[in-house]
Amino acid sequence: MMMRFDVVTLFPGLFRILLDDGVIGRAIGRGVAELHLWNPRDFTQDPHRVVDDRPYGGGPGMVMKVAPLRDAIAAARAAAPASRVAYLSPQGRLLRQPQMIEIARQPGWILLAGRYEGVDERLIEGCVDEEWSIGDYVLSGGELAAMVVMDAVIRLLPGALGHGESAVQDSHSDGLLDWPHYTRPPEIDGRAVPPVLISGDHAAIERWRSLQALGRTWQRRPDLLQQRGLSDEERALLEEFVRSHHRDEIG
Ligand SMILES: C[S@@+](CC[C@H](N)C(=O)[O-])C[C@H]1O[C@@H](n2cnc3c(N)ncnc32)[C@H](O)[C@@H]1O
Repeated sequence: MMMRFDVVTLFPGLFRILLDDGVIGRAIGRGVAELHLWNPRDFTQDPHRVVDDRPYGGGPGMVMKVAPLRDAIAAARAAAPASRVAYLSPQGRLLRQPQMIEIARQPGWILLAGRYEGVDERLIEGCVDEEWSIGDYVLSGGELAAMVVMDAVIRLLPGALGHGESAVQDSHSDGLLDWPHYTRPPEIDGRAVPPVLISGDHAAIERWRSLQALGRTWQRRPDLLQQRGLSDEERALLEEFVRSHHRDEIG
């Protein structure tokens, strides 16, 4: 089923980058997902098309006004009645791969990209279903965050990736990091491809990849292993990786 994104943004031109190239542009071109842009300035009633104002209580920066955002969201809702509204915000729920999978299950999303100091709190109370953060840092605007979410979600949709590409083996898709990848030539700058990968033994290759995925996750993101837990077979593989890792360290 085609997924629909409606983005409420003061900078619709930024979203060209999604359409112009790559996996996501092609997926949208093929009708796997649709993108619609709504500029709150088009919903202002004054000649200067004002969308922001000074904060009550004083202080630096500007705050996005309720009315233009409310009316832009209402127009998007009328066009996409099955969609929920998410505000991209550093104060939102932190998105990881499991949340991207959840988001991909909905028929559509209206994404609100903030600017300046953010949006008037009453807009969030009245019009927003969810708040999402892409990380514990502050961006200048929600547009990049919205594009990050769209990229991560659209590549999960059926038909988004080309023949031979798969999101299933990617890092985080099963709670582990991906294994290392190699391509031709078999040796370069004195570094050889692990021999098993050119052995033609598919069972051995699969085993090596599982071992590496478990080992990498243990080395780089032990927190992920703790959250996920391991089967008996995976535990045995990881023990093998740890043993050979310690042997390499000792030399
Ligand atoms: C400069 S920020 C406002 C930050 C706000 N004053 C605060 O500290 O919570 C402007 C906009 O960028 C977006 N933004 C910033 N950081 C983000 C993050 N980590 N995840 C998602 N959106 C973010 C939001 O839409 C926000 O309204």
